[in-house]
Amino acid sequence: MLAIRNIAELLVVPPGPVQGSSMRTLERICDAALLVDGERIAWFGSESSLVTPPECECLDAGRGCVLPGLIDCHTHAVFASTREGEFVQRLEGKSYAEIAEAGGGIRNSVEAVRASTCQQLVDHTLPRLERMLRGGVTTVEIKSGYGLSVEAELKMLQAVKELKALQPLELVGTYLAAHTTPREFADRPDAYLDTVLDDTVLARIRDEGLAEFCDVFCERTAFDIEQSRRVMSAAARFGMAPKLHADQIRQMGATRLAGEVGAISADHLETVDEGGIAALKAAGTVAVLLPGCSFFLGVGQAPARRIIDADLPVAVATDYNPGSSMVESLPLVMSIACTQMKMTPAEVVVAATANAAAALGRQDRLGAIEVGMQADLLVLDVPSHERWLYEVGRNCVRTVLKAGKVVGNAQI
Ligand code: NIG
Ligand code: FE
Repeated sequence: MLAIRNIAELLVVPPGPVQGSSMRTLERICDAALLVDGERIAWFGSESSLVTPPECECLDAGRGCVLPGLIDCHTHAVFASTREGEFVQRLEGKSYAEIAEAGGGIRNSVEAVRASTCQQLVDHTLPRLERMLRGGVTTVEIKSGYGLSVEAELKMLQAVKELKALQPLELVGTYLAAHTTPREFADRPDAYLDTVLDDTVLARIRDEGLAEFCDVFCERTAFDIEQSRRVMSAAARFGMAPKLHADQIRQMGATRLAGEVGAISADHLETVDEGGIAALKAAGTVAVLLPGCSFFLGVGQAPARRIIDADLPVAVATDYNPGSSMVESLPLVMSIACTQMKMTPAEVVVAATANAAAALGRQDRLGAIEVGMQADLLVLDVPSHERWLYEVGRNCVRTVLKAGKVVGNAQI
């Protein structure tokens, strides 16, 4: 047993999905304590009612805030080269879409991934995950999508699988071969999809446990509605639940498609319309917003307030990738969600814990403070979650616990 004592504020985040106005009414217990038994939360309450079991270890929270470990439910964290040239091009006036239409963008990440060994991809990614952990992230979803050939896409997913054994974060693989059409298949997107959706490839992903989800970039520079539907239904036959990059740049009905196929999440939503919001609501799909991406590209944010007002569960993630969101800090992105999307700190905490868990189908085990939930916990060096997100860009995480074990400690 482990007792965490001297907690100034324990945020009692309920299990996801937490919808609409419930996201901002977070219960908090002041002067709290929490007991961990093995991997799970065994008890929590006010410190004055704590009964310490015999032979119990103690962790002093030092009057800090305690909350569930963060879950980054949308990243492209495996990549082998950076794209600062495009960053400068955008500062000189080109848009993300113009760069992509001219043959750059995602395609500029492909060559280096193809030229890398799986081990090299692992080596590139490991320090990124170590930094994410220090910022309070305990679970990360990682997409393929920079290989754009059967071999290179599987290599990316294999790298994610190998990384699981090398560090404490829980990793979730997503197959995003439908990120864009590679140069050698230019103007032949369907022929490209024939290769990456071949039954033998999808069966291998299932049999080797390489991906739980399948994602598609549904956008003018990538795949249209018909092609996206095809990708998701092919992957679903092999047990991969659909996710969708939807309504990022152009409104073309992608969010409605996400609702139609019952996607577990629809991500981006910068240009979502009322029909799209209604479709997600009807399907129970989690709306994953990526404020770091709009911040990085210098474009408008998704309408978070309208989506929350429509009573949807909203999650927030980094979209960490070298093209549109070279932002690996989820706490920074959470602060951006406050200042740029006008989400309250309570809403943002729910979005990056309980609702992010729901976007990954892990709401029964992760992202909440409840007896029986996995003890993935953060101890902050500030007394409240408001103070944390207000201190934009400073790492306020003192201690990280994953499944009941201390895996990161700022004081060591
Ligand atoms: O989520 N939008 C599509 N995919 C990524 C961008 C990937 C890239 O530009 O490398 C995103 O923003
Ligand atoms: Fe993305």
